[in-house]
Amino acid sequence: MSRVVSTDPPDGFQRVARSDEVARPGFVRREAHGRPVLLVRLSDGSPVAFGHICPHQGLELDEGVLWEDEVDCPHHHYTYDPRTGENLYPKRVFPARRAAGVRGIPVFETREEDGWVWVGPVRPPGAAPDPGGGEGSGGDDLR
Ligand code: FES
Repeated sequence: MSRVVSTDPPDGFQRVARSDEVARPGFVRREAHGRPVLLVRLSDGSPVAFGHICPHQGLELDEGVLWEDEVDCPHHHYTYDPRTGENLYPKRVFPARRAAGVRGIPVFETREEDGWVWVGPVRPPGAAPDPGGGEGSGGDDLR
């Protein structure tokens, strides 16, 4: 008698792209949970998913690239950590008081299984990636 073991991701994940569609350094746009998300693959090979709007001036990140594993906005080159959503530049060069006001981007729990990339819920800002295979990132609300 064989036993069927489900490899389906947990509830709350949606299959959004074939693995071979998610590359680097450019982003691919998909829909997850009724909202646009951007996907890219980090240098370690893991896929990440994040919101499509840069909070600097509310412009789209679609034409940006991953630069040294940072999401680089194409408009004024603010950069974001795709795992946590935290702004990295200009936050790292701003004085502390000014840096505190620089917002991040939303990031999503992300898994890759059976040749597909799955996107789960928004990761709370500052939360670590899901150790169950997730890669992705947290931040502000989607626009
Ligand atoms: S809109 Fe992204 S850096 Fe200005």
